[in-house]
Amino acid sequence: MGEVDPAFIQAVEHRPKLAIIEAEGIPLIDLSVLSSNESSNPSSTEPLVAEIGEACKNWGFFQVINHGVPLEKREKLELASREFFAQSTEEKSKVKRDEVNVLGYYDTERTKNVRDWKEVFDLTVKDPTVIPASHEPDDKELRKLVNRWPEYPSELREAFEDYAKAMEKLSYKLLELISLSLGLPEDRLGGFFDDHTSFIRLNHYPPCPIPHLALGVGRHKDSGALTILAQDDVGGLEVKRKIDGEWICVKPTPNAYIINVGTIIQVWSNERYESVEHRVMVNSTKERFSMPFFFNPDHNVMVEPLEELTTAQNPAKYKAYNWGKFMADRKRSNFKKLDVENIQICHFRIKLDESS
Ligand code: OGA
Ligand code: NI
Repeated sequence: MGEVDPAFIQAVEHRPKLAIIEAEGIPLIDLSVLSSNESSNPSSTEPLVAEIGEACKNWGFFQVINHGVPLEKREKLELASREFFAQSTEEKSKVKRDEVNVLGYYDTERTKNVRDWKEVFDLTVKDPTVIPASHEPDDKELRKLVNRWPEYPSELREAFEDYAKAMEKLSYKLLELISLSLGLPEDRLGGFFDDHTSFIRLNHYPPCPIPHLALGVGRHKDSGALTILAQDDVGGLEVKRKIDGEWICVKPTPNAYIINVGTIIQVWSNERYESVEHRVMVNSTKERFSMPFFFNPDHNVMVEPLEELTTAQNPAKYKAYNWGKFMADRKRSNFKKLDVENIQICHFRIKLDESS
């Protein structure tokens, strides 16, 4: 990444503390009951549903083990990702994203207008994926996003497709459990995902000479429904703990996945479950790899608090918004530095007292 560009420097209040706080971490949840013979019996999953509900409410984050995703599928994609990023910038740039097709390689992402110390490769799960051509509300034109496949490593495509299938399966399972935990039927949310716009990001965080000043990813909330993250054994992900706002490190657990609820679930649940801020620290000696799967609904879904979860005492806290337009706006602002603030969910929040 060359000389340190001042665009990477975080404001003083957002710089990481390099001394890690040892603290109670995010909940670790065992999903083995789902693969047991008992799983068709609703009472056998009740404790699990309760555990997931508590984790979503108190942390917005949890880790899962015994999730049923074969380790081999993950390892194949991890290896292909390492091989891809180990190539020269020139080689990687052959599959670089552009303004029309936002999928592919890039190393210039900004979070809240500060550059992230990382390079990424974005791949869509349903290839092609249809999304609105622009963020303009009246523009009805659609656009197809297609994956770009690098020449090397040639195994990347198959490894990606296998892994993506496993992630889809786990996402639907988690969505059912989350629906149940909100007191809804297990199939209440699945219909929003028939033509889902999910994508996988391969992240590479190179060693950084200024880990006290920069971040791999600046503080942010994930804007989709759910994220399933595979991180390697280096560590660096930090989650903002709800009770006190401290940044808590998520210690790597072999073969576990880190799950977090995104902003769409925050809105659907009318804030029973909040999407929690997180960020990634980098370090001066070790490179780090991670692979988030962002589970996102169809582009035409209007996201709004679910009727069943709002009452006269607890009215909807958000106006409905179109997921595809929201996403198109985000992708646009990721592509180049805009002078305007990018779209935020607070723009759709209803002020309960409009006069104030
Ligand atoms: C993200 C993210 C965490 C990580 O890409 O949204 O939070 O550990 N990544 O890479
Ligand atoms: Ni994130």
